[in-house]
Amino acid sequence: MKKIFFSSVLTFVLAGCASTPSGAPMSGGAQTAVSDAAAAPETESSSFYTSRQASRGDGLFRDNCVSCHSSSEFSGASFQRRWRNRAVGDIYEFVLYSMPDDNPGGLPEQTYADIVAYMLSMNDFPAGDSELPTSLDELMKMMMFTGAGGGDR
Ligand code: HEC
Repeated sequence: MKKIFFSSVLTFVLAGCASTPSGAPMSGGAQTAVSDAAAAPETESSSFYTSRQASRGDGLFRDNCVSCHSSSEFSGASFQRRWRNRAVGDIYEFVLYSMPDDNPGGLPEQTYADIVAYMLSMNDFPAGDSELPTSLDELMKMMMFTGAGGGDR
């Protein structure tokens, strides 16, 4: 599989096509060659949240979550393994119904969405022009870390 991938890239290069393997973020599944570094998100959609929303989420995280968590729990390889091939909505649903542990569902939906945006920013998802919505249906369409697992669920 790796061989096939590389030889097809070679074909492109030989054919004089300007695209390089790292310049093809849309292809998702093909980029499975590197293990941990591949956890860098390769998403279908280019951006899910705004940087303003993420910094709001940073503050809200501090207000509501740091009594039990440190932000470093929600980034890096183990976090990305945990949520590989899951939707942004899966994290949102979890925190919406289960967190804070001593007050599940006790915060406004917008607060949960902002905190999830903050988590995305910590995992190097690119910020864009539209905010992460509070609609679970919408969030369930946003897949994360799809390049990291090679379809291994
Ligand atoms: C009173 C303590 C407490 C507070 C406050 C709290 N949590 Fe948690 N959190 C926990 C415990 C305990 C677990 C593990 C138990 C579980 O998975 O149900 C957990 C698990 C999680 C997980 C799952 C981690 C994983 O990888 O499985 C996420 C995500 C999370 N919390 C997010 C949040 C967010 C966001 C906030 C703030 C809105 C928050 N928590 C506030 C105690 C807390």
